[in-house]
Amino acid sequence: MTDWIEVAKCADIAAGKAKAVVADERMIAVVNLDGEFYAVDNICTHAHIVLTEGCLIDGQLECPLHRARFDVRTGAVTAPPAYEPLRTYEVRVDGDAVLVKL
Ligand code: FES
Repeated sequence: MTDWIEVAKCADIAAGKAKAVVADERMIAVVNLDGEFYAVDNICTHAHIVLTEGCLIDGQLECPLHRARFDVRTGAVTAPPAYEPLRTYEVRVDGDAVLVKL
């Protein structure tokens, strides 16, 4: 069963920024790219490192440990050493709320 869960208010995440949230015990990064919101797992697939502790560069989260990069739109790896993609989540905006489908 899937549920839509509110994870943030739109105003909480400025364009070009990422926010770490926990929803249903999952660590998720919610990212605002020019007003479009995306959500991916917030743990690097190379090791257990929180990605929002790193940088957001051109729509990619860069891991702070070994600098693997992940495209937040697709979860795909765009720079090694990670090779497994991030899980992505559907996102929708309802009024001023950002919701993620789990
Ligand atoms: S822990 Fe993220 S690239 Fe190594």
